Amino acid sequence: MEYPEEPFRIKSVQPIQRLTAAERISALTKADYNIFMVPADNVYIDMLTDSGTGAMSSAQWAGIMNGDESYAGATSFYRLKEVVERVFGFEHFVPTHQGRAAEHILSGILVKPGNVVPSNTHFDTTEANIRVCGGRPVNLGASGTSSAAQQHPFKGNMDLAALRRLIEETGAENIPYGMVTITDNAGGGQPVSMENLRGISEIYRSQGIPFFIDACRYAENAYFIKQREAGYADKSIETIAREFFSLADGATMSGKKDGLVNIGGFLAVNDRELFTDIRNTLILKEGFPTYGGLAGRDMEAMAQGLEEGLDENYLEYRIKQTAYLGESLAALGVPVVKPIGGHAIYIDAGAFLPHIPVEEFPGISLVSELYLEGGVRGVELGSVAFAHQDPDNGQWRHPPMELVRLAIPRRVYTRAHLDHVLASMENIVERKSTLRGYKITWAPEHLRHFTARFAPLD
Ligand code: F0G
Repeated sequence: MEYPEEPFRIKSVQPIQRLTAAERISALTKADYNIFMVPADNVYIDMLTDSGTGAMSSAQWAGIMNGDESYAGATSFYRLKEVVERVFGFEHFVPTHQGRAAEHILSGILVKPGNVVPSNTHFDTTEANIRVCGGRPVNLGASGTSSAAQQHPFKGNMDLAALRRLIEETGAENIPYGMVTITDNAGGGQPVSMENLRGISEIYRSQGIPFFIDACRYAENAYFIKQREAGYADKSIETIAREFFSLADGATMSGKKDGLVNIGGFLAVNDRELFTDIRNTLILKEGFPTYGGLAGRDMEAMAQGLEEGLDENYLEYRIKQTAYLGESLAALGVPVVKPIGGHAIYIDAGAFLPHIPVEEFPGISLVSELYLEGGVRGVELGSVAFAHQDPDNGQWRHPPMELVRLAIPRRVYTRAHLDHVLASMENIVERKSTLRGYKITWAPEHLRHFTARFAPLD
């Protein structure tokens, strides 16, 4: 399996430690088997998320020192504005403290009870922000996206026929805006093609529905378009990004992913009136429009991070590193979502542990075992994260797959770290039939995966 050469050298390091097996058992039990509740210094390789966990460059750290902390009109805001306008191309934007703040402001202004918001796959916070406003998020992934094994170069694509049907049935007036997530995080970190984005845009625009891109991993998506879609091989990542953003009316962005920062995000729109409402809400909830929820230094680091995230050498390394882990896991007989996506490996825990029914959360079982085996922290993106009760009949609706995600923080782990993950999984493969299911002993109403408590079944 090919491992890419890192296009950087390491200048600052953080020691990490491995607990003993007995200490890991104690840590997981104390956390009520919720991996989110395990203190980070009890984790050896942390693949919980790629969000805000990347390593900043020396230029970004220099930006931290150079940040202008003026309340109004900070130079760091104007530096960020220049990059956002150039790459994203929308007419207006406000910084927010992270992606979900942008989602919260957008849905809070536009979503009314009974409204529907379609996407390929909404991420958990996007979905929850729509639900708390009384709206209904609808996922319209293209056929094949709910199967782990089926190969497709753009498995994040939206089902355009289903989108047309939904609009016809719901009425465009009940759809305050439509979305697409690039790359499709909950669906396997899979890219969406330019052709599909064009189709989505045509449908939304022909119906007068504002089109918003959830852009967290837009640079990885643009890299896949360059690699896989005819006509883009010679275009720069920035040109490709500009092309797809020109198809939309706005974007929500978490800078913690392709912005290569530990905190930050923004909300960008073309519509002047909507922007006025956004600004007013921002001032109430986040901060003055030239800093949103951020310090000047955060904006400076994000401006620099957005530039670095577009670098093709970096993106090649990033995508190949993910592929190395994914292909190596597949070679061990672990069922992973194929083709390998951008920022993470998605293991089909339902297929890996067929003796554990979805009601007993095979994903939680695998996440727990990976921690107990190797101190590796992954996250369940299956029924705990995404199952919900139908408001009409109270029945539980489960997601198409019980996934476990191993997300790769940007520029953080080396090949030896990934090989440790592989060795841990290899040991689990050998004894997987002994793994047990789990039950939930407590859970909140929304976003239950973050704080739910679990107990293993006998
Ligand atoms: N949209 C997508 C597709 C995301 O993956 C995330 C966050 C958000 C929106 C929200 O952004 O965290 O800055 O508020 N995803 C992280 C993850 C948490 O682990 O995938 P945020």
